[in-house]
Amino acid sequence: MSPVTTATLMQMKARGEKIAVLTSYDASFTTHIEDAGVEVILVGDSLGMVIQGQESTLPVAVEEMVYHTRCVARARRNALLVADMPFMSYSSSQQALNTAGRLMKDGGAHMVKLEGGGTQLETVRQLTANGIPVCAHLGLLPQSVHKLGGYRVQGRDGDSARMMREDALALEAAGAQLLVLECVPARLAGEISRELEIPVIGIGAGAACDGQVLVLYDMLGITPRQPPRFTRNFLEQSGSVAAAIAAYAQAVKEGSFPAQEHSFE
Ligand code: KIV
Repeated sequence: MSPVTTATLMQMKARGEKIAVLTSYDASFTTHIEDAGVEVILVGDSLGMVIQGQESTLPVAVEEMVYHTRCVARARRNALLVADMPFMSYSSSQQALNTAGRLMKDGGAHMVKLEGGGTQLETVRQLTANGIPVCAHLGLLPQSVHKLGGYRVQGRDGDSARMMREDALALEAAGAQLLVLECVPARLAGEISRELEIPVIGIGAGAACDGQVLVLYDMLGITPRQPPRFTRNFLEQSGSVAAAIAAYAQAVKEGSFPAQEHSFE
């Protein structure tokens, strides 16, 4: 496999080839993820929960994201490396530029991810104008868990579904090159995926997205908390971490994951 770029992902979408994405936080797991041919590695701020044992992603610091991104970057060979900008590290465009600069220069990220729609448009414009590729994130926004009142499916009523579609189109127009949709009804996620030119990566957003992402520790079934309904334990029947990650990549590619039971209406 040659190095994956944003152009590679656009070509995959155009060909109808599913994109496999997984989170990673260290070098050892990254080696297995690379071996499985996963196209995109996300250093998610989910590390706050699965590595640090925090109750949410909110306490994660920029410095911690830079550290884990650097660990992953050392073992990364071909995958596009995306790093989350943590809570309150992109409250203004200038702050976002500083945070993204650290993640790319010191961490080795190729792209940064931020949560939110309309309020983030100017920040997305500023980042992309400065040569920083952006992955947007709509639907369930874990950094807004207290505002949302819990980890709930988003976009179930007409108004919120319409707003999500408008936000998705506006983020693309502002320059975002990838979009994550989290916990969104499968039908709505499919419509947004078809409407956008950029690839849409789902997590709890049904099978019609252009690709899928899971939190690595969830799909290995090694977190102490109850796994979310939209995940599947790939380690159970695989026997090794390497085989589980390979099974996940294959299931995404052939469209057998996510199944109906991992999706929302
Ligand atoms: O932090 C993370 O791992 C994420 C994924 C759930 C998409 O944002």
